[in-house]
Amino acid sequence: MSPNVRSSVGKPNDGAVLLCETQGQERAWRRDLADRHTANKPSRVRIGRIVVRSTSGRRGRDQQAERHVLEIGTWDGPYAFALEARGALVEATDIQDPDETGFNVAKRILDSKVNYTRVSVYDVGKHFPPASFDYILFLGVFYHLKYPVLAMEALSQLLKNGGRLFFEGECLLNHAQRADGRAPGWLDRGMISILGRSKYPVSLYYSGQYKDDDSNWHVPNLACLEEWMKTAGLQIESHRCDATSKGVNRFPTQRVSGVAVKAGEPRPEHPMVEDIATMLHRAKMVRAQREREQLTTWRSIVSRSLDRCLAPLGLRRTGYRITRAPR
Ligand SMILES: C[S@@+](CC[C@H](N)C(=O)[O-])C[C@H]1O[C@@H](n2cnc3c(N)ncnc32)[C@H](O)[C@@H]1O
Repeated sequence: MSPNVRSSVGKPNDGAVLLCETQGQERAWRRDLADRHTANKPSRVRIGRIVVRSTSGRRGRDQQAERHVLEIGTWDGPYAFALEARGALVEATDIQDPDETGFNVAKRILDSKVNYTRVSVYDVGKHFPPASFDYILFLGVFYHLKYPVLAMEALSQLLKNGGRLFFEGECLLNHAQRADGRAPGWLDRGMISILGRSKYPVSLYYSGQYKDDDSNWHVPNLACLEEWMKTAGLQIESHRCDATSKGVNRFPTQRVSGVAVKAGEPRPEHPMVEDIATMLHRAKMVRAQREREQLTTWRSIVSRSLDRCLAPLGLRRTGYRITRAPR
């Protein structure tokens, strides 16, 4: 790290990494972080809750086991760097070019070893082996996805048994827009709050603008988020909802953050999907067995005719070797 660069990791609960060479830069960076990473997020993500080193278990009291952490949608990487500073082995991912976000600059200044993979959440399984992470951070991402359950399934496969998914995002609590973007009338507001806090799993879905952002798709209520997680083999352990009528821009804030534990395997879409997979697998096995048998038959036919040709020449075959036959 160059000597005139001051870097510090934010307080355990703020998840921010401050990078600066001058006080002016520090102020600008703080402002930028405040805008980009706290927008819509009053609950913040309590990164201090993640135990990045464990001193217990079979490895002995003095040996520390590093936690393997995957971050999805890392953007400038503040959480990834903060966790690395606390001793975790971190893999950061996002669909954005890390030279265009602040990630690579921050990485250089912090002299960080965090590895960045440019990949969409749906494809993480192509880059990392199954069951390889203790924790996955999935902050501010699920509502940006067209297929949130598919993403959660992909993440669940990467978690070790008992591993944990830290999630955060937009959640139906006190605000909805009509599909044409218009705000609800005052009569509808009561119904929206009831739906938001009810046990009926419902999600708003927008194919266009929600809160002036065309990358927002689903806004599930907590009951629906729980069902999505369950489908992916995850169980929500704890959560916190934040709703305020005044939020960022002109929209109310409604966010959820929490922790889910890997509690099983993703549920198949339909039992028949599994049946088809089993059937195809069985058919493949039968075909392979038939080919093996045909090969054996052909081999013995060829061997017998070869033996018949060799005998008059005074030669004999043992396996793949042809030698002179004893007189
Ligand atoms: C609202 S930002 C959240 C950034 C950061 N995780 C945080 O909480 O401050 C959403 C991030 O998710 C990323 N993202 C969007 N779609 C994604 C996808 N399909 N796979 C991975 N990352 C995605 C975006 O590039 C962006 O960096």
